Amino acid sequence: MSKSVLLSTFQPVPPVDYTHAEGAWVHTADGGRLLDAASGLVCVNIGHAHPHVLEAMTRQAAVATYASPGALRPALQEELAVRLGAAVGRAGDGVSLACSGTAAVELAVSYAKSIQRARGETGRHHVLTATLGYHGNSALALGLSGHRRRRPEPVDALGLGPAFDPPYPGHHRGCPYGHCRAECVSAVRDAILERGPETVAAVLVEPVNGTTGGAYTPPPGYLSALRRLCHEHGVLVIHDEVLTGLGRTGLPLGADHDPGGAADLVVLAKGLSAGYLPLSAVLVDEAGTEALRSSGRPLPLMGTMSASPLQAAVGLAVLDVLQDLGALEAGVLRGGELTSAVRRLADLPAVVRTRGVGYFHAVELVPGGQRAALAHGREAGLLLYPFNGFNPDGSGEGVIIAPPLTSTSEEIGFLAEAARTALSRIPASE
Ligand SMILES: Cc1ncc(COP(=O)(O)O)c(C=O)c1O
Repeated sequence: MSKSVLLSTFQPVPPVDYTHAEGAWVHTADGGRLLDAASGLVCVNIGHAHPHVLEAMTRQAAVATYASPGALRPALQEELAVRLGAAVGRAGDGVSLACSGTAAVELAVSYAKSIQRARGETGRHHVLTATLGYHGNSALALGLSGHRRRRPEPVDALGLGPAFDPPYPGHHRGCPYGHCRAECVSAVRDAILERGPETVAAVLVEPVNGTTGGAYTPPPGYLSALRRLCHEHGVLVIHDEVLTGLGRTGLPLGADHDPGGAADLVVLAKGLSAGYLPLSAVLVDEAGTEALRSSGRPLPLMGTMSASPLQAAVGLAVLDVLQDLGALEAGVLRGGELTSAVRRLADLPAVVRTRGVGYFHAVELVPGGQRAALAHGREAGLLLYPFNGFNPDGSGEGVIIAPPLTSTSEEIGFLAEAARTALSRIPASE
């Protein structure tokens, strides 16, 4: 008799059998161990099996794993909302909880349109996004994402598509400068004017590019210029900080690298759940929250599994750990040791360039180099994460280096050595 198979996606090298994971390490079935150099899918930000989170999970599981939303007081969820706003310097924001980055992006888009309607701007329904970026795996989020390999078939794209080029070299087509500057926000202005400003509800961007292009950072002042431009046209700014939020880029938010560039709405996910349970959040600034609350319209449906007390207990415990690490201290850039280690890889023949900030880095490789990097990485004791197809012509490959924020100096040292060993085995053209 035939048996069922798991339909799932895999990386270009076969998956590893493992026994357990703890801290920055995954222990393999053959008795070895691999440093989780990409924190799973850039989400295990405080390492695996953190005792503080495990304790909070078990304690809450014995009290109540689920509590009917709307019928039972969400005391833990309210505490998480307060703690989360304060943790990212946005005390006073309205906070909604959800259970994936994708769901939270959808919620943020819905909120942006509702805020516009509450202000009497009933014609604003477009949400503009960049030609390089990823916002999730629902039909709406894929329709909005500029991820060339993940674009839906045109008939399945709900009529949606990215609207402007981001300010990154080789990606801002027709850039009038040698290297992108804050002024490259003109691409967004053109897109707003082309659609008609009175039809645009929001611009949705990753403040630091995630795994689509691999850790591109915008030029200084770009996010501030984007905020000014959008507000001139009555357009809201949504930052997708699913990957970058809560310390990944070395500051509490990815947008903190440009202090004048804060968004109206912020989406958080990976850093909040830290990979322990499905959990995400949307933060809406005070003006938007007031508009939503005074509109008299119901909020969007949140879904059955949005923010159970168990999820909230985990979120609170993750915030405790991040706070103790110093990862949520405003203005204190962390991850310098890792940044220097990754930059030193740039002299290897197979490395085209490196980029990134804090605990989030990308190593762009020569064509054909990625598979070898993943395989040699394993042999050297590392789990790396691939990214592909980011150039406008569909080429481009590399690996992400983004270990847990809890990694020790010794672990960063191990990572640096192992990455050098693995990548130096790849010739200049594979
Ligand atoms: C920037 C960004 N937005 C949204 C998402 C979607 O989040 P999720 O996979 O939790 O739905 C991701 C996931 O990788 C992401 O990196």
